[in-house]
Amino acid sequence: MTKHDFLATTIHLLAPQGWEDYELLDSGKGKTLERFGKHILIRPEPQAVWEKTLKPEVWDKADAMMVEEKAEYGASWRFLKPIEKSWEMSYKNLRFQAQLANSRHIGVFPEMASNWDWMENRIRKAAKPFKVLNLFGYSGLATLACAEAGAEVTHVDASKHAITWANYNYKLSGLEKQPVRWIAEDALKFAEREMRRGSKYQGIVLDPPKFGRGTSGEVWDFFKKIPELMRACRGLLGNDADFMVITAYAIRASALLIEQAVVEVMGERGKTETGELVTVDKSAGHVISHAMYTRWSKD
Ligand SMILES: C[S@@+](CC[C@H](N)C(=O)[O-])C[C@H]1O[C@@H](n2cnc3c(N)ncnc32)[C@H](O)[C@@H]1O
Repeated sequence: MTKHDFLATTIHLLAPQGWEDYELLDSGKGKTLERFGKHILIRPEPQAVWEKTLKPEVWDKADAMMVEEKAEYGASWRFLKPIEKSWEMSYKNLRFQAQLANSRHIGVFPEMASNWDWMENRIRKAAKPFKVLNLFGYSGLATLACAEAGAEVTHVDASKHAITWANYNYKLSGLEKQPVRWIAEDALKFAEREMRRGSKYQGIVLDPPKFGRGTSGEVWDFFKKIPELMRACRGLLGNDADFMVITAYAIRASALLIEQAVVEVMGERGKTETGELVTVDKSAGHVISHAMYTRWSKD
């Protein structure tokens, strides 16, 4: 491999532009005030070290507040108003269900919308049959965005609950005519088997968590398994590969970690863009970083 000048990498800050159903209304004092469709939620956010900008009366309008964070994304909610625990939201033509359960995650990571738009544009621009593999697909919004743009998507997640939820969102979005394969399996095991079968994809999107479990208890540990997964992804991208998008949440590392992991397998072919997925509060313009990302594209 020729020596790559990683120090010269520009770190981009990507904030989603297309939301009507989501707003980061305010942040401060270790919390965020966010609107998810018709509901306003307060969640802890250690990055919000500044003062709140909006008055207490506005914060008092929240419907629910996350009161306790537990290990591995667990959480409990205090309901401040009588609200249903699941409700519908939309992003452009995509419709999906948000849920308040025993988790800080409610079924949508708003900052991811920057990647959905980017993938949609690439798929539409390619104007040819396009297969996308979505690993660790969760509630399926990346799958829906790619399917809506015309791709044939393989959606993989170890959790049957997540697969059911993603499938529900797919139907809610009226995308049943777009072919999606739903696979409940360990992401690495599936990717390696697909590679042995000689399957090829034009696009891969993956959001590997820090820790996770496959369907048969396989341990997913980001730092230990990412090289194997990257090698499998490389093997699954055909000669006509168009993109790979990787995001990483809750990882203590520079965004350059995933840039380097991608360059390791893709070499100097195509180009990469690396940075952080952020949201910006409407009240004072404070930026909150949620994940690191690297996007590889053929051009
Ligand atoms: C989207 S990822 C990461 C979530 C989030 N972006 C975060 O903060 O880490 C979470 C998804 O990965 C799935 N998952 C965890 N371990 C897995 C594994 N070994 N194979 C496939 N899916 C897995 C979970 O079921 C969940 O739906």
